[in-house]
Amino acid sequence: MSEHTRIGSGRTAEVYAINDDKVLKLFHPSVSEATVQKEYDVSKRLVAMDMPVPTVFRRIEKDNRKGIVYEYIKGTAMTEVIAKKPWKARKAARLLANLHLNMHAHSVSSFPRFKDVLRVGIDRSGLDARLKEKLQNTLDGIKDATILCHGDFHPDNILWKKQSIHIIDWLDATCGHPLLDVARTKMLLEHSALPDDLGRFEKRIVTIIRRSFLRTYLKTYFKRSAYDKDALVIYEPIVMAARMSETIPDQEKDVIRDALIQKVNI
Ligand SMILES: Nc1ncnc2c1ncn2[C@@H]1O[C@H](COP(=O)(O)OP(=O)(O)O)[C@@H](O)[C@H]1O
Ligand SMILES: [Mg+2]
Repeated sequence: MSEHTRIGSGRTAEVYAINDDKVLKLFHPSVSEATVQKEYDVSKRLVAMDMPVPTVFRRIEKDNRKGIVYEYIKGTAMTEVIAKKPWKARKAARLLANLHLNMHAHSVSSFPRFKDVLRVGIDRSGLDARLKEKLQNTLDGIKDATILCHGDFHPDNILWKKQSIHIIDWLDATCGHPLLDVARTKMLLEHSALPDDLGRFEKRIVTIIRRSFLRTYLKTYFKRSAYDKDALVIYEPIVMAARMSETIPDQEKDVIRDALIQKVNI
């Protein structure tokens, strides 16, 4: 891909500019055919639903790797906007909450079920059997819902331009209870490891901004939501346990495990 400029990378892929209008999301060789096809199918359906997402063009193979061609969104990740202009953090948090509320106004069928995905995650979490059983029981008790959930909704997956906003990276999209989606966003904002290249002082500042960002996000979301913020306590331990099955830094895993154990209080 050396003839094209790399404009981004994430946990599953690298993204290259093909020209002024299109990008190629080139998946890591470890990503399965089923996963790529799922992202492609989900993206097509989101475009058809008029969601604020990049248009999806086609699937291709390049250098023996699977790829998807998307519309080139010349925006800046919300995280980067906040890092450069911290005074915009409150506006960004309100925007994130309103995008999430609008997404959660959509009911979808035949997306993978959030509860099924979380059940597998809890099972593979490495937590002790008693805690896993308790959380699986809580999960069983959560009402089945068919709300469109992003599954990994955080400021890095929002591309922000002056006049428009796009939500990207729908690999984990599901249908389910919206508070599971909100609980995941809260967990990511509270506990995601910060980049290693930040010094101690910078980490402190970022943590303060992130906390205030989270407060504004939650306040804005629950102002218009049919649910009460207090209900989150049921959903948080479930998404935290499932997070333990993901490839994340050991330190982040330890922080989440400790916070989870405190929350379930056993
Ligand atoms: N359609 C797009 N237009 C412009 N940049 C994009 C587009 N899609 C992805 N990117 C950039 O590439 C990065 C990785 O893409 P993403 O879909 O989040 O992949 P991953 O699944 O690997 O996290 C994004 O954070 C963003 O900076
Ligand atoms: Mg991403």
